[in-house]
Amino acid sequence: MTRKKIIAGNWKMNLSPAEAKTYFSDISKTLKPVRSQNHRVIFPIAYCLNEELKNAASLSGIELGAQNLHWEDKGAFTGELSGAHLKAMAIQWVLIAHSERRQLFSETDETAYKRTLQAIKQGLNFIFCLGETLAEREAGKTFEVLKRQTAFFAKAVKEQKPTAIASIAYEPVWAIGTGKTATVEQAEEAHHYIRNELKSVLDSSFADQTSILYGGSVNTQNAKSLLEQKNIDGLLIGGASLKPQDFSAISLLIS
Ligand code: PGA
Repeated sequence: MTRKKIIAGNWKMNLSPAEAKTYFSDISKTLKPVRSQNHRVIFPIAYCLNEELKNAASLSGIELGAQNLHWEDKGAFTGELSGAHLKAMAIQWVLIAHSERRQLFSETDETAYKRTLQAIKQGLNFIFCLGETLAEREAGKTFEVLKRQTAFFAKAVKEQKPTAIASIAYEPVWAIGTGKTATVEQAEEAHHYIRNELKSVLDSSFADQTSILYGGSVNTQNAKSLLEQKNIDGLLIGGASLKPQDFSAISLLIS
């Protein structure tokens, strides 16, 4: 079973449309589209999700995705994004429950689950983010947290079968934006645990096919050894994805 490899860049609240245009022009010099089952995706600020930038990104085989989506199709939800609109705009990817949404914007396991159902309903590819905080790791609760969070992903995909890519990103909160990467052993251990959890609640071929990405201070130095781990199927990159030369170099590690 070969799982899809996914290299994803999370720009967070960085890079304006003009900066994004320069970025895609720069990266197209080194990164070209390839025929492959794998994916390169960038999650820019929502107002960069336009035709011009989508076309510019496609010159490097990069797809664009949204950093969030609401669980309803439309309505009085100021500041939220509609999955139905993303679909209509041919934006195929969405991030769900990034730890910054969980920590800074009151995202819960329940809202993560509802957003996942909506992504599946709209036929969007999604990356469901989870991971423990430093306090949870230090209290020896890492696996308990991963079990609970993984269960919400599993509940959604059990309830509504995905027709597009359903993937997970393990991002230990203490490694995000801190320069502290989990060791490859810590990352592989968590990924292995998450996959076994999936196997225990879902059918095992689905669990085997689910790509699990690692995120948290990924850079050009540590990307290769992370990708070499058996259960690490891709990377979700924040800071380093803002530099076209770094995102290009990391993307070239997969075909
Ligand atoms: P980082 O961010 O690579 O800057 O640690 C990762 C993320 O938040 O997805």
